[in-house]
Amino acid sequence: MKKLHWFNVSSIGKPLKLFVTFALILTVLFITYFTYLKPKPSPTKVPFQHRIFDEYKHMSHQETPFKGAKIVHLDLKGAPPKISYYKTLFSLLSKFGATGVLIEYEDMFPYNSPLLKNVSALNAYTVEDIHYINKLALENKLEVIPLLQTFGHLEFLLKLEEFSELREVPEYPQVICPTHEKTLSVLMEMIDQVLQMHPHSKIIHIGADEVYYLGFCDRCANIMNKFNLSKNMLFLEHINAITTRIRKKHPHLRILMWDDEFRSFSVKELKSGFLDKGVQPVVWKYSKDVYEELGPSLWEMYSEVFPKVWIASAFKGATGSNQYVSDVTHYVQNHRSWLSLMSEYSHRITFEGIIITGWQRYDHFAVLCELLPVSLPSLAMSLRVIRGYQDSPLSPPTEVAKLLGCEQPYALIGPVFGSPKCSYTGGDILEGALKLQQLKQEYETILEDSRVKGWMSDYNKNHQFSNPQHVQSVTAPLNRIKGELMQLDGEMTAAMYEVYDNYTVSEWRETYIKPFEREVRAMVDARDKILAKNYWPRRPLLQDGDEL
Ligand SMILES: *[C@@H]1O[C@H](CO)[C@@H](O)[C@H](O)[C@H]1NC(C)=O
Ligand SMILES: *[C@@H]1O[C@H](CO)[C@@H](O)[C@H](O)[C@H]1NC(C)=O
Ligand SMILES: *[C@@H]1O[C@H](CO)[C@@H](O)[C@H](O)[C@H]1NC(C)=O
Repeated sequence: MKKLHWFNVSSIGKPLKLFVTFALILTVLFITYFTYLKPKPSPTKVPFQHRIFDEYKHMSHQETPFKGAKIVHLDLKGAPPKISYYKTLFSLLSKFGATGVLIEYEDMFPYNSPLLKNVSALNAYTVEDIHYINKLALENKLEVIPLLQTFGHLEFLLKLEEFSELREVPEYPQVICPTHEKTLSVLMEMIDQVLQMHPHSKIIHIGADEVYYLGFCDRCANIMNKFNLSKNMLFLEHINAITTRIRKKHPHLRILMWDDEFRSFSVKELKSGFLDKGVQPVVWKYSKDVYEELGPSLWEMYSEVFPKVWIASAFKGATGSNQYVSDVTHYVQNHRSWLSLMSEYSHRITFEGIIITGWQRYDHFAVLCELLPVSLPSLAMSLRVIRGYQDSPLSPPTEVAKLLGCEQPYALIGPVFGSPKCSYTGGDILEGALKLQQLKQEYETILEDSRVKGWMSDYNKNHQFSNPQHVQSVTAPLNRIKGELMQLDGEMTAAMYEVYDNYTVSEWRETYIKPFEREVRAMVDARDKILAKNYWPRRPLLQDGDEL
């Protein structure tokens, strides 16, 4: 364990950071003085100071904490952590204030029947691994909710040749056909196996979001025609078929599902599909203003049909399919807006729990987005919001930094403050991701420079014909960037091995390091070629390179 140095000025280095740190200390002293030390000023005399006092008097106070379940989503369809990491992870989640985990195994589950054997990834967890996860969860007082997709996002199943006949659209392996005669038996076999390995779970989540193709195939069209079913009714029929079967075997199991597919349904349709069926919707929205985007009519409608509703926020993987650093401000704001929405509707709707999603890919085929250890600060800060801490913009990272063993708490909210240097397992991965972001930004700045645009275009490169002074000056930082990038590659690889298997390590490097490295190398080569020239031909430049 590294020692904590809350204001380790000697390691900050650059004058700008020194200045920022200094300004920050001054601000904190200033606020502390006016909040706690100075005798209360009379409002008539010093109104300005009084305003500051008002603004910060709720600092770190606990107010209207959310009382329901606080469930963290573990999306294993990408970057599944090594089993050894769960010990660290679950202990942290528990300290952050989570009450459970929603585990989306996707192809990481050890399906074991002859029919489903090929559905598991080659590096899927073993039966013993799942037992160990359950045991750790129990020890950390985290309830486990397994999630299994049952309609859309079945890419991991439908991509396989042997299950391709179940696709709704033959070319697209996303959505299962609800009317194919084998569909229900395959899904129920999957559900049975997952539930069998989670004997203590009281809740199952059946997914069912983003069903992009409904009623497309001939089978569905015929059935819709024969029974006069709308697409909405077809959707509800399929969900009903699954939930009825689950409830028959497990009458006490609660069933959750994503709500997006029925947001536009009528109250009548919703009542016919869900009333008294014991299904609880999970209303998901990951933006900064959930109230604005979902609108009031949705809550009117749900309050008529569902006695209990869940909501889902996000702490990572929701601001871009190829983000590798989390926008903490975005996610904290997402939770603030959910909290205020819940307080507005709490007299009419029971909010049973919140699922704090952490997407690892946008779908089975997409690249990895933010790795779990990179986003633990975002998760910790989001959970503080949900637990009712009215953190001032200055105080939350201190609490979170203590939990994560970070040397520079303020760096957790932005790169201006340097790097956080955290000692939790995976803290070095956060460090590496931030370093990569900084190098990419430096490189982007060079590309945006007028000297690159005007003197290092493809034309300049192809003809090796450019102004050497401009080329030399604008590319001056390139060698350092290249060196730091190669060093980072080594450090990141080592850091990732602590948490991930080598498949994830190589996938991440191939996605985020290698293409950047190739780009920087190509730029260095182009510069060297241009600068190798000392004499230049008379115009026009028709000879060499014209065909390149
Ligand atoms: C699983 O995959 C293997 C190899 O591709 C194949 O031979 C086998 O038939 C598949 N199993 C099933 C149940 O389809
Ligand atoms: C089919 O359903 C629609 C809407 O549910 C209804 O208006 C219509 O009368 C039905 N048609 C038949 C032939 O049952
Ligand atoms: C990954 O690790 C396993 C076991 O440690 C090894 O057998 C395999 O060759 C490695 N694969 C790669 C791509 O390095």
